[in-house]
Amino acid sequence: MSAKLCIGIIGDIVGSVGREIVASNLLYFREKYNIDFVIANSENASGGFGLSKKNANELFSIGIDVITGGNHSFDKPEIIEFMDSMPILRPINFPPNTPGNGIYCVDVNGQEIAIINAMGHYGININLDNVYHKLNEAIASLKQKKVNNIIVDFHAEASSEKRIAFCQLRGQISALFGTHTHVGSDDLHIQNGSFYVSDIGLCGAYDGVIGMDYKIPLQKAMQGYGKGRYEVLENGNNIFQMIILELTNGKCESAFKIKKINNKELENIQAFNLESNRF
Ligand SMILES: [Fe+2]
Ligand SMILES: [Fe+2]
Repeated sequence: MSAKLCIGIIGDIVGSVGREIVASNLLYFREKYNIDFVIANSENASGGFGLSKKNANELFSIGIDVITGGNHSFDKPEIIEFMDSMPILRPINFPPNTPGNGIYCVDVNGQEIAIINAMGHYGININLDNVYHKLNEAIASLKQKKVNNIIVDFHAEASSEKRIAFCQLRGQISALFGTHTHVGSDDLHIQNGSFYVSDIGLCGAYDGVIGMDYKIPLQKAMQGYGKGRYEVLENGNNIFQMIILELTNGKCESAFKIKKINNKELENIQAFNLESNRF
C-alpha cells in the first residue's frame, strides 16, 4: 500500500505583518490542498528577532505543526524553557549543550515524519559544528529507525552551501528547502525522489529590506554606522509564499509553490522533475 502525505512549508515569517498574512491564508490552503502537516521557519516572527512564547502559541493555533529556526532562534531567550515542551527546533549543528533540538519526529496519519533543522556557515557569526557531518549522522540514525519521510530546513546565506547539502543527500531524503535569505527562489525541482528549493522566501512586508524598514539599513550602508535597530516594516505591500509537497513512501512525487502579493494569487510555480524531464 502506498502511503501518501501532503506537506506545507513556509519560510521566514517576519513580524506581526508575517504572522497576520499566514493567519489569513494558511487554514484556507490547508483545506484546499488537504495538507497533512505544516512546517514554518519562525526565527523572525516576534518583532523580526526571535520567537516569543505567546507568538509560538499563536502560530500553532493557526495551523503550523512544527517551527524551525536559525541564527535568530535565541533572540527571545524566554523561548529556551519552552523548546523541549513545544515542537520548536533550532539548527542541529549548534554547539553541544545548546538548549533545544535539531530533529523532530512525529506520527502523521500513521506515518513517521522527521524534520531536521540545519544551518550553513557562510556569513553566520556562530561557532557551529560542521553541518554536513551533522546531517549525515542524523540521517543515518533515522534510516536505522526506518524513517522514510525526512525533510530538512537548511538555513543559510549561500545557495552553494544548500546545493552541497542537496547533492550530498538527494535520494536519501524527501526534501531540502532553504531559508534565511528571505528571498524566494524559483529553482524548485525534484531529483532522485528528493525536492529542492534554494529559498522559500519570507511571509511579511514585500518592500523594504528582507521584511524590515529600509531606513536604518540604508543609513548603515552609507555611513558605516546607524542609530537604532532594524524595525519590521508595518505597512505597504506584503507577500505570502508557501511550498506544497506530495510524498509517497518518503519520495517527493510533485511539488508547487503558492505566491500571493497584496492578497493577489499569482500562478503556481511547479517543481520540475529532472528524472521524468517534465513538471
Ligand atoms: Fe530569517
Ligand atoms: Fe536567519
